[in-house]
Amino acid sequence: MGLLDEKTILVTGGSTGIGRATAQILCREGARVIIADVQDKEGQETVSLIKEDGGIAEYHHVDVTQYQDVRRVVQDTAARYTKIDGAFNNAGIEGPAVKILDYPADEWERVLRVNLTGVFNCIKCQIEQMLEQEKGGNIVSTASVAGLTGFAGSASYNASKHGVVGLTKTVALEYASRGIRVNAVCPGFIETPMLNRLTGDENNKIRDKMLGRVPMKRIAQPSEIGEAAAWLLSDKSSYMTGVAMPVDGGWIA
Ligand SMILES: NC(=O)c1ccc[n+]([C@@H]2O[C@H](COP(=O)([O-])OP(=O)(O)OC[C@H]3O[C@@H](n4cnc5c(N)ncnc54)[C@H](O)[C@@H]3O)[C@@H](O)[C@H]2O)c1
Repeated sequence: MGLLDEKTILVTGGSTGIGRATAQILCREGARVIIADVQDKEGQETVSLIKEDGGIAEYHHVDVTQYQDVRRVVQDTAARYTKIDGAFNNAGIEGPAVKILDYPADEWERVLRVNLTGVFNCIKCQIEQMLEQEKGGNIVSTASVAGLTGFAGSASYNASKHGVVGLTKTVALEYASRGIRVNAVCPGFIETPMLNRLTGDENNKIRDKMLGRVPMKRIAQPSEIGEAAAWLLSDKSSYMTGVAMPVDGGWIA
């Protein structure tokens, strides 16, 4: 018996990093996973890895900034599998690491569009579908510790992740009585392509500085976020909604 047997779960940003690791864990726990991303080759690789492991997954090209793209994958999935039990809204980008005076306005817009409007598009379409289902549903989005505290040099990323936390709490309140739970995970530093882009593969100086903020003194593996997300997406967390849960090696504490 898996935590997520018989469940159909949509994962955005599942081509790499946290999304890929989470998709693999969800499948190991018995779910059928629909991966939605813009990196097609990597998305197909995630599907292959899952199939090699005996799981069921499929990939769809979906840009989360495009409402119609998101609506289509939600509707197609529900039509084929009769329901969407869960969603992991995880697609995100990092944006430039500069202070506000140097922050380009177009980058501000781009990061908000993917990280916040993207999650808005997903949640809106998912709620619309879940309200039609007998058993409601379960939504988890990826925020960040940058959604819980300030982080100099990342204005748009930080604002977008605070936005995801606010959106999560608000929608959780709106549908708590309708059988739909809405939560967020807030990762600290996780070993993914995004972290490598921010630090440079070999740049131990930036990594050492980052580790200075982490009581556990290590960077996490993506699967450590995946395990938390799988639990939030399962019935084991049945009394939790509106929570922004840090998974951060003690940073926020
Ligand atoms: N790595 C970290 O340390 C860390 C910490 C806190 C939060 N996060 C968050 O975790 C999530 C996953 O990041 P990651 O570290 O795995 O990075 P990643 O770059 O490996 O993965 C991000 C995924 O999102 C996809 N994506 C980007 N724009 C998209 C769009 N418009 N539509 C659909 N898919 C899109 C990318 O193609 C990629 O597969 C992000 O929301 C990120 O902000 C990461």
